[in-house]
Amino acid sequence: MAEKFPWKLAWITGASGAICGEVARRLASAGVTVAATARPSEKLAALASADERIKAFPADVLKPDELKDTVGRIEGELGPIELAFLGAGMYAPFDIRAIDLEGFRRSMALNVDGVINAVASVLPSMLARNSGHIAIMGSLFGYAGWPGNGSYGASKAAVINLAESLKLELEGTGVAVTLINPGFVDTPLNASYDPKKKLYVMSKERCARKILERLGRKPYEIAFPPQVELFLKLARSLPRAVSFPLIRWFTKSMQG
Ligand SMILES: NC(=O)c1ccc[n+]([C@@H]2O[C@H](COP(=O)([O-])OP(=O)(O)OC[C@H]3O[C@@H](n4cnc5c(N)ncnc54)[C@H](OP(=O)(O)O)[C@@H]3O)[C@@H](O)[C@H]2O)c1
Repeated sequence: MAEKFPWKLAWITGASGAICGEVARRLASAGVTVAATARPSEKLAALASADERIKAFPADVLKPDELKDTVGRIEGELGPIELAFLGAGMYAPFDIRAIDLEGFRRSMALNVDGVINAVASVLPSMLARNSGHIAIMGSLFGYAGWPGNGSYGASKAAVINLAESLKLELEGTGVAVTLINPGFVDTPLNASYDPKKKLYVMSKERCARKILERLGRKPYEIAFPPQVELFLKLARSLPRAVSFPLIRWFTKSMQG
């Protein structure tokens, strides 16, 4: 049976990427018009040419004025953005003995500033209409510090905290907030990550399906797979004297 969604128009950042591209295709094939944003590329153009309901609106999420203009153009041409799906993101390896400061800064900029720039662009018109839905791609690895994950984990922890603030402040405004926290997905984003340390890896298709089977109900959080979610949330809630040895034991056992 075809999927049904409560939005007529969705704006997706990171749309040329693996997970968000899949989300865009699924939404479009269910009748939702998709405004697809990433920096200009053949991949973005190819995504838009594959389905007439997907329209490319190239923009850099690190340029707030450009993003604001883009949102204005989308709403002028296609109507009110009902779902803003904010997925532009990156992973940078983190080696404690040779810290890549540039990688750390780029991850924080794209994963955190990129999200708030997009929120700042789309929220005023949602608030003016008293309706809208903002969905933000976080990661389960924002819930607990993890060896080798200093850049990505720190940026996604910031996203989790930001989403909580937005959720609390937007209550009663008609604007819903959803935080999406997947575990490992098989995409180019984490290609440099040691494959032995990737647990319960899922495909981008499965990830998009798991997101979209719940997103229309506007829950605060969508997190999966449950094994990794429970482990990391448990680690987060335990006293540090217990959680640090637990995570150390766990990561050592993955090295075999
Ligand atoms: N893969 C995983 O295991 C995993 C797990 C949990 C959460 N996530 C999160 O899910 C999201 C998508 O991940 P993915 O694996 O699908 O990544 P991906 O395939 O690498 O896609 C990243 C997207 O971000 C866009 N992007 C990068 N810099 C940009 C900029 N300055 N302005 C606009 N767009 C920009 C890229 O497009 P251009 O470079 O063409 O601009 C691309 O569309 C990310 O937020 C990621 O952190 C991923």
